[in-house]
Amino acid sequence: MRILFIHFAVLFTFCLCSNIPSSVLELNEKFVEVKNEGMWFIEFYAPWCAHCKRLHPVWDQVGHTLADTNLPIRVGKLDCTRFPSVPNSLGINGYPTLIFFRNGKRIDYRGSRERDALVSFAKRCAAPTIEKITRRQLDKVKLDSRTDPSFIFYGKPSGAEYEKFQEISNKMFSLVRFYSLSEDKENQEGFKTRICVLKDNAEFEFVGNVEELEHWVNRERWPGFVAASSANLAEIGASGKLVVLAVSNELEKYNTSSEIQKFHSLVESASKELRKDRKLWERFQFAWLDGSDLASQIQMTTIKAPHLFVFNYTTYEYYLTEDEPQKMTKNSILVFLKQLAESVDKGTVVAFGGRDLFTRIKRMVFEFYWNIAQMFATQPLLSSCLFGVPIAFLSIICYSICSADFSVDRDEFYPDDEDPLLDDEEESEKEDEEEYDENHEKAE
Ligand SMILES: *[C@@H]1O[C@H](CO)[C@@H](O)[C@H](O)[C@H]1NC(C)=O
Ligand SMILES: *[C@@H]1O[C@H](CO)[C@@H](O)[C@H](O)[C@H]1NC(C)=O
Repeated sequence: MRILFIHFAVLFTFCLCSNIPSSVLELNEKFVEVKNEGMWFIEFYAPWCAHCKRLHPVWDQVGHTLADTNLPIRVGKLDCTRFPSVPNSLGINGYPTLIFFRNGKRIDYRGSRERDALVSFAKRCAAPTIEKITRRQLDKVKLDSRTDPSFIFYGKPSGAEYEKFQEISNKMFSLVRFYSLSEDKENQEGFKTRICVLKDNAEFEFVGNVEELEHWVNRERWPGFVAASSANLAEIGASGKLVVLAVSNELEKYNTSSEIQKFHSLVESASKELRKDRKLWERFQFAWLDGSDLASQIQMTTIKAPHLFVFNYTTYEYYLTEDEPQKMTKNSILVFLKQLAESVDKGTVVAFGGRDLFTRIKRMVFEFYWNIAQMFATQPLLSSCLFGVPIAFLSIICYSICSADFSVDRDEFYPDDEDPLLDDEEESEKEDEEEYDENHEKAE
């Protein structure tokens, strides 16, 4: 009997466990005690927050994907309204906040909230800061580097160059991957100690002083023609380059009969050509935007794809070309950039936008109207209710106030012979009594 009971209990627990489909752990305040042990990727959320609601299904996918990789990463989420001590102790004040804990080291995530970006971030965070690879593994690294650039140190892992490489990787391992490859056959001909970046289906070597390495890594960590969004534009701008932004479209860029596709591949070829001119390459970073919203907000006017402009993130200034996007060629883009670089140096350039007070106010007003317009465009019914109902109420109130008859005699409200300070109740009682008396008399 007892054995049967235990069997039943085991079976029951087993069912309970296997019934939970999510690989995302729901955490509580005890998390603070275990966060320094192992790898955690945690979403701190509040149930009322709309961004969090949108993230939850993506977060479940992140949990599943990381569970499949067999990496020792635990994915979890924590309701900050139920356990406020945890976000307080971590200094969290926005939702959702995504943090990776690597054996106690905290790495905040600030990139886009798409599954692939989140998964590759977690993988980078979990990997060794510099991963040692063999010649055979190099091909796979090269394949992965087509979308996510990687830095690779060829040679014996020692010396000043390697130390610098290590120092940079300790700072930046959550942003980009670092590898080292040393070989027995190091002394063979053609093998030289060097640092390279693998990206855009090619390998580019670092040339220069070790001191410049960090700056170089910062400039080279993006693909040549990177997809930009509001989530990563600041980081792309931090590369210290001017960003050449092409307004394109994620779907249309594959549609061979679309103008956007032609424009997109034209700008892409210009970005490849830019590589050949080292001076220009060090000044410009090509990127493309899916849709024109961000471009419109930067320029404070309605932009339509295809469109091209150059953006300085630090000053929020942008530069425009006189060429029509339809008439641009690879050469005309490069000539424009060359001239722009020269006139920036000379200080003769005409910049639009900026961060001065007037422009900031203008941008705020524009963004306000823009957001309302967006609301109507995406959710017309809800927006109509949201704005229509209060407006309707207001108009009814206005109408009743305006059409009300104010010509009544003031005496009607405060008869002279009565004390205006008299309580309303007493007054009405008095009136009632009088009325009653009158009626009573009449009846008699
Ligand atoms: C942006 O503009 C500022 C001020 O003109 C300048 O100092 C800075 O170098 C520019 N940024 C880039 C990436 O050129
Ligand atoms: C491709 O682009 C053409 C021209 O802009 C458009 O008419 C067509 O609907 C597009 N096709 C798809 C599948 O989006």
